Amino acid sequence: MGFGLGIDVGGTWIKGAAVDLGSGLPAGAVHRLRTPEGGTVEAVADTLDRLLTELETQAPGSSNRPAGVAIPSIVRGGVAASAANMDGSWIGLDVRSFLEARLGRAVCVVNDADAAGLAEVRYGAGRDVSGTVLVLTLGTGIGSALIVDGRLVPNLELGHLELAGHKAETRASAVAREAAGLGWPEYAGRLQQYLAHVEFLFSPDLIILGGGISACSSEFLPRLSLRTPVRPAGLENSAGVVGAALYAAAGREALVLP
Ligand code: BGC
Repeated sequence: MGFGLGIDVGGTWIKGAAVDLGSGLPAGAVHRLRTPEGGTVEAVADTLDRLLTELETQAPGSSNRPAGVAIPSIVRGGVAASAANMDGSWIGLDVRSFLEARLGRAVCVVNDADAAGLAEVRYGAGRDVSGTVLVLTLGTGIGSALIVDGRLVPNLELGHLELAGHKAETRASAVAREAAGLGWPEYAGRLQQYLAHVEFLFSPDLIILGGGISACSSEFLPRLSLRTPVRPAGLENSAGVVGAALYAAAGREALVLP
């Protein structure tokens, strides 16, 4: 299957790697650069350019390969329809055309949680599960991906559900936990309330929890009580990078599992 180039644009870090598409593993270390202050499209494009130059040392001969770029936005046909924790200049922008012109290569743009979801069902914690899989990424916000019988339902925004008068991601994301200085029992309580609501709405067969916080899942998973099995992400924090690489290499076919 060869390899693909994947980049995940987050609120704090922009990460990227050349990914072996047979195993779903980054070919070397995941490179990361700080997200520029303010997150304007221009500044982010400069950082992507630098990151891609670094990745070419990991994957010689990749200079004309398409790059997959995952962003924290609703993405329809390469155009961003929202921007969470990023500058408003992303909204309404044809990000694909803009980045293709700036980076001088083909670019595929996908929502970051959708990228993570694709990677988890293809290579990670959802690999052996059919039916409805819900992947939630707990990071700066809460990202969501719904995969039904191997097919992604793109652009779900379940972090924006309102719970007890608050947007869920402002209460139950990893950053919300840190900002409020919550211990694990308190945080697990908030997560329980959120997940119980989502479980009621979607009746999934499996919930996968990703984002950097999934590395600490032993602190909160045992405190949850749901009907649905819950697993930590298999690819932890590199799922977005892996999914973006898969999407770049396989295009829309990445959305349907073999
Ligand atoms: C955004 C989503 C994104 C998620 C994770 C949310 O605030 O609306 O599009 O997937 O954060 O970054």
